[in-house]
Amino acid sequence: MAGQTSAPAKVILVGEHAVVYGMPAIALPLSQVRTYADYNICDHALSVHAEQDSQPLFRWTGSGEAAQDPLAALVQLTARHFGASQLRGEIVLRSDIPIASGLGSGAAVSAALGRALAAVLKRDLPNDALNDIVYEVEKLHHGTPSGIDNTVVVYEKPVYYIKGKALDFIRITDPLHLVVADTGIAALTRETVADVRARYRGQRRQTRALLESIGALAEQARALVEAGQSRQLGKLMTRNHELLRQLGVSSDALDRLVEAALVAGACGAKLSGGGRGGNIIALVDENTMPTVEAALLAAGAKQVITSSVAGKLASP
Ligand code: MEV
Repeated sequence: MAGQTSAPAKVILVGEHAVVYGMPAIALPLSQVRTYADYNICDHALSVHAEQDSQPLFRWTGSGEAAQDPLAALVQLTARHFGASQLRGEIVLRSDIPIASGLGSGAAVSAALGRALAAVLKRDLPNDALNDIVYEVEKLHHGTPSGIDNTVVVYEKPVYYIKGKALDFIRITDPLHLVVADTGIAALTRETVADVRARYRGQRRQTRALLESIGALAEQARALVEAGQSRQLGKLMTRNHELLRQLGVSSDALDRLVEAALVAGACGAKLSGGGRGGNIIALVDENTMPTVEAALLAAGAKQVITSSVAGKLASP
């Protein structure tokens, strides 16, 4: 028996980094950009492959010591969740999400793989359980993740996220039209999160003030998203970018793309995710979408994705 599971990419609309310190943030799924796991139930010990690689990324040899490699850890945690001592089958991973680009590639690989493992075990893995497992693996990717990436990727719904608080999904009144543009520069979230932490230790008052200002923007953004007020939301995103720049997680390449989007008529623009490299997101309307897309490519974006995050997504 064979089948396919998947999980989407994500963007952070407002609030990255501050969310690690208990402030609110908003994340949206990017459903058309995904990681897929093709699975095949067979009698061999489990192997996990990347699409074009003949060498497996992982081969099951028993549960053993706690794995430090994220992929092996995901397999181990999922096996433990089901109390499975034997894992059989073949899984092939394929991803359209660029790695280390702020789009949640690590969480999406974990979520798609966790679902495929449940499928080869012929068991049901509810999102709540999968979310817990993916969060554990995010710690290996990120060090001290807030949990926002795994949450938006696993549930695939817009979320207003506060670390340690109950899940709170957002109702989007009017579709949010986004242009997502990649600097082509890989940057590890683990490193920017660590840099912000070092800054927090060294300049606590100033850094705290920046993080709190970002948190306040996320709170205002929620009301604007729910009221369908894109113009004001855009302004707030641009302000968020400026605060992230002051926090030290932007870069010339990100600033250049943000500027290009604004000049081309975007309502607002900001880096999205860990920063330093990776992607910016620009909030546009249907008329400005093609102009902003072209401007971002002309300004050096390596890849541009357009996405409309649908309105009227109900709470769970
Ligand atoms: C990464 O997508 C978002 C950060 O806030 C890290 C986290 O929340 O774990 C930078």
